Amino acid sequence: MTTQRLFFALELPAPLQQQLVQWRADNFAAEAGTPVAAANLHLTLAFLGEVNRETQESLQQLAARITQPAFTLDLDDAGHWPRPGVVWLGCRRAPRGLLQLASLLRAQAARHGCAQSAQPFHPHVTLLRHATQRIVLPPRGFHWQMEATRFALCSSLFSRGRTRYKTVARWPLTSA
Ligand SMILES: NC(=O)c1ccc[n+]([C@@H]2O[C@H](COP(=O)([O-])OP(=O)(O)OC[C@H]3O[C@@H](n4cnc5c(N)ncnc54)[C@H](OP(=O)(O)O)[C@@H]3O)[C@@H](O)[C@H]2O)c1
Repeated sequence: MTTQRLFFALELPAPLQQQLVQWRADNFAAEAGTPVAAANLHLTLAFLGEVNRETQESLQQLAARITQPAFTLDLDDAGHWPRPGVVWLGCRRAPRGLLQLASLLRAQAARHGCAQSAQPFHPHVTLLRHATQRIVLPPRGFHWQMEATRFALCSSLFSRGRTRYKTVARWPLTSA
């Protein structure tokens, strides 16, 4: 049976992706880690892993039934996880809407056999990978804001040494 590697995510608008890439270039040395391509910058809500078509369709049907208002996301925090080698951007105070949405998607995924990490959800945008050496993070004071008005199901394909993400489906965040 064919499967796809899938995850639910908040996509970042292209202008924001470009701003983050510029800020990253200004604030991190080239040897700090492998930069994530601008188009791949996103915030994962729930990672599904390898999923067959039937499970995908069930999870898409459930996603389409989610009624939740849009929310504002403030990217004003950064950190380094040396073990997975990730440098990330996140939020000092995650909006309730973000936590609710991720919690719902993660619960639905778990009920469909998609194992969820035991670690608490820590919303983040991965900026650098393979960042295993000590890193000096930029001083606080950076801040980007975006309106999360929709969420997406994305596929992840690793080929010829590159990860490519493709949007499979999108749903609006609306209280109607
Ligand atoms: N995509 C593939 O099929 C694949 C295959 C082999 C090797 N790789 C290598 O694996 C590394 C990661 O690739 P990628 O992150 O672009 O694609 P990915 O592993 O498919 O991850 C897609 C998104 O899901 C998140 N995620 C992955 N596993 C998770 C888990 N167990 N729990 C919660 N969230 C999870 C990732 O978070 P984070 O951003 O926090 O990681 C990322 O935001 C890269 O160095 C790539 O070269 C990828």
